[in-house]
Amino acid sequence: MSQTLLIDRSDAVLTLTLNRPETKNALTREIYSGLADAINAAQDDPAIRAIVLQGSQSCFTSGNDVNDFLNVPPAGQDSPVYRFLRAILSSEKPLIAAVNGPAVGVGTTMLLHCDLIYVAEDARLKMPFVNLGLCPEAGSSFLLPRLLGHPRAAELLLLGEEISGRRAVEIGLANHALAAGQPVLDAARQAALRLAAQPPSSVRLTKRLLKQHSQKQAQEVMEQEGAHFATLLQGPDAREALSAFLEKRKPVFS
Ligand code: COA
Repeated sequence: MSQTLLIDRSDAVLTLTLNRPETKNALTREIYSGLADAINAAQDDPAIRAIVLQGSQSCFTSGNDVNDFLNVPPAGQDSPVYRFLRAILSSEKPLIAAVNGPAVGVGTTMLLHCDLIYVAEDARLKMPFVNLGLCPEAGSSFLLPRLLGHPRAAELLLLGEEISGRRAVEIGLANHALAAGQPVLDAARQAALRLAAQPPSSVRLTKRLLKQHSQKQAQEVMEQEGAHFATLLQGPDAREALSAFLEKRKPVFS
């Protein structure tokens, strides 16, 4: 069986590549655990100076695995997804994301914890939590309005509106939009190499200063969201929406 998370440590950059193409890189408990462990280990590893999160040349991630949502939903703050979210929230090493194709659900909310975000012009970013009978996660109900203002955050979270990579840059959700495919992965790698060449103490301190006013609140909101999310996942609307996705039909909400 091929590895669903590829881990590369070269040139002082930890590169984490999602590799589950048959599900558009849907995130399983195993992948979340692998991501959390690798990001946490990098914090105390002086040989790592930047971390890249990426998918393939055609897909970032379709978000949480829908089968897992239905069959093994996250239970409590120690579950793999919350370990991953805490790891990116608290990472002192810079995080760089490279997004081609779809970035659904946590595929977009994880970007709110990244420092530099490179997207394909035609990337498809979407947070369909409400559409699925769920609610925002990863601190997004706090971080998104802070970044974009309330109306734009509401459009993305209440309507579950999909936006392109080009639009994500226009509204300040990403740094640069590039031609799809390898250019996005290359741009992220180049940025990581530039960061890796900077004085590490200054990079670490600057990142800490940038985040110091939002980090604690984001953590609190993340925990609140997580509790609501867990309840909603067991509810009839989410179960109908997620089952409908797998059965390739339109959901019917009672
Ligand atoms: N979990 C499990 N399987 C998933 C998945 C997910 N999150 N996303 C996609 N898949 C599976 C599909 O069921 C399909 O399986 P099949 O080949 O056995 O039929 C396969 O991956 C390809 O997906 P498909 O929807 O046919 O590809 P697409 O290119 O038309 O669309 C997406 C890609 C990512 C836009 C679409 O799959 C999607 O919206 N997925 C999101 C699922 C979701 O709601 N995630 C949770 C968000 S909170």
